[in-house]
Amino acid sequence: MSFIDDIKAQAKKDIKTIVLPEYMDSRTYEAAVKIAREGIARVVLIGTPEEIAANKGDFDLTGITVIDPKTDPNRQKYIDKFVELRAKKGMTPEKAEEQMMSDYMYYACLMCKCGDADGAVSGACHSTGNTIRPALQLLKTKPGISSVSGFFVMDVPDCEFGENGRFVFADCAVNVDFDSAKLAEIAILSAQSFEAFIGAEAKVAMLSYSTKGSAKHDDVTKVAEAVKLVKESHPEIKVDGELQFDAAIVPSVASLKAPGSDVAGHANTIIFPSLEAGNIGYKLVQRLAKAGAYGPVLQGLSMPVNDLSRGCYADDIVGVVAMTAVQAQKA
Ligand code: ACO
Repeated sequence: MSFIDDIKAQAKKDIKTIVLPEYMDSRTYEAAVKIAREGIARVVLIGTPEEIAANKGDFDLTGITVIDPKTDPNRQKYIDKFVELRAKKGMTPEKAEEQMMSDYMYYACLMCKCGDADGAVSGACHSTGNTIRPALQLLKTKPGISSVSGFFVMDVPDCEFGENGRFVFADCAVNVDFDSAKLAEIAILSAQSFEAFIGAEAKVAMLSYSTKGSAKHDDVTKVAEAVKLVKESHPEIKVDGELQFDAAIVPSVASLKAPGSDVAGHANTIIFPSLEAGNIGYKLVQRLAKAGAYGPVLQGLSMPVNDLSRGCYADDIVGVVAMTAVQAQKA
């Protein structure tokens, strides 16, 4: 079974309600119909009757819930919640209503916050920043977590490395600035994400251009310190670093560069030292190794919200909705 078929099967075991707020994109309707037909999640679309009619084309939305934000009986509840959550940031009922009605991702996040949905997926026609900002502002991080980060599940065909070719790569999407503490937190969340999505023990490699002190630089020290922080706070996690990518995944290289490591040569959870490295790294593997790249999936939020690539196909939306539903099952 492919990775995404595994996830769809998992999503179907406990059906969750996932909101798709991008009424203006035909891929939303194609995906919603497929999700409903396959029984992966209860899909909720947001849009006025005019907005939906102008965009849905020939897709038959029978059985799919459509919320009209102008007449929704919950609308006032969402405005009140928005004001309650953002009063210190100067939010007023008038501004809350204006923001919710002009950007339905805010509406979707408020539905989640008020318990009317379990998660949301957007980004087919909005930037990553505009997709995740409402979630950062309204849903916030899980208790004890300082930063949301973004991972990909990489499914590499014909690959003997990782977990039968499957890896988690992070952070590939969110944090533009890492210190050691943030890097350590990304590693801990990624280990948990690997175990939730792949169902095997995470072996976490924290990457650098140096292996075990082969180069000296503040950037290398930052990674080595992050490894120490993970080991101190989560001794149960198998983690090592700093490691170069070949030492992380290839046993013969690991035996030369990092002998005795219980992670080097067998890593399946790959933590990059910067957003540039993570974002470029996943795209290299996706394009050159023809790997499936599922994500970015956000980790660390109090409720699952996920972003799409603007070049996505309807099937990609179906896959991200299934992953979001699985995150909601485990929330
Ligand atoms: N975790 C938790 N909360 C966060 C995070 C984070 N990583 N980043 C920002 N926040 C919170 C802030 O604390 C703030 O909360 P507040 O309003 O309650 O005080 C709120 O989110 C907004 O924060 P800003 O500092 O105003 O940040 P901004 O909205 O400008 O940007 C964002 C946040 C969108 C995540 C930004 O860091 C970003 O654009 N990152 C890069 C995204 C990107 O372009 N990725 C690459 C493309 S993705 C791909 O290729 C797959």
